[in-house]
Amino acid sequence: MAESDKVFSGSIPKFYDTLMVPLIFEAYASDMAELAAASSPGSVLETAAGSGVVTRALAPKLGANARYVVTDLNQPMIDYAASRQGPDSRIEWRQADALQLPFEDASFDVVCCQFGAMFFPDRVAGYTEARRVLRPGGRFVFNVWDRIEDNAFADDVTNAVAAVFPHDPPRFLARTPHGYHDVARIREELSRAGFADIQIETREKTSRAPSARDVATAYCQGTPLRNEIEARDASLLQLATDRAAEAIASRHGKEGPVTGKIQAHVIVAAG
Ligand SMILES: C[S@@+](CC[C@H](N)C(=O)[O-])C[C@H]1O[C@@H](n2cnc3c(N)ncnc32)[C@H](O)[C@@H]1O
Repeated sequence: MAESDKVFSGSIPKFYDTLMVPLIFEAYASDMAELAAASSPGSVLETAAGSGVVTRALAPKLGANARYVVTDLNQPMIDYAASRQGPDSRIEWRQADALQLPFEDASFDVVCCQFGAMFFPDRVAGYTEARRVLRPGGRFVFNVWDRIEDNAFADDVTNAVAAVFPHDPPRFLARTPHGYHDVARIREELSRAGFADIQIETREKTSRAPSARDVATAYCQGTPLRNEIEARDASLLQLATDRAAEAIASRHGKEGPVTGKIQAHVIVAAG
């Protein structure tokens, strides 16, 4: 993983939350909230919470006395998430690396993490940390994207942007968000971290946007793909976005709303 892959700061939190979240994250956030709340946990830790889409879905499902600690590596994402959440005395916002959690052993009933594990430089270390802070009988609930070919818009954007930089194509989307999808490997790494009961389900959904341009702007300007494009030539960010919009329009519809397949693995680990 490139260093810039984990940098969600500058203009990214706002573009991420307003464009990426409705496009691909909201649909899985309601599933994640259902799964996390299913055991009526008294305490929940969320890692890699980003701009708070799961937090907004899960908080209303937790009990009045629940403790809900919401964390992310990047403080600008946590600040953005907190600014979108109404006052809620059950929630503690905190910057934290999922690989070095600043919490006591056995302090949570549920750890949840939506589309964060792909960013962990060492997944076994991240899973070991999640297990360490879980109480006996606790559950680690998380999801990861399936391969890029099963996620239509990400694949189209990656191919279109590659044509703008043919000698050094930006590969963020394929390398990181869509770079950790082998179910056997996920199972094996969770086992190495000590989890004994592992359930993995692959879920397909549909991504929707008001226009092809919204999709292109979301991916090119609201994710670390932006960092990669700007590192090559910042003056080409708009051209790369335009090319991505043209590619999406030609494959998914030139006028009005567009839809595309998205697919992810949803995992519950315990024991
Ligand atoms: C694709 S976003 C997902 C955010 C959110 N869970 C959602 O569903 O919208 C990935 C998030 O992982 C965070 N992240 C990257 N590396 C991390 C780490 N080592 N520990 C905690 N968070 C991390 C990033 O800051 C970013 O907010």
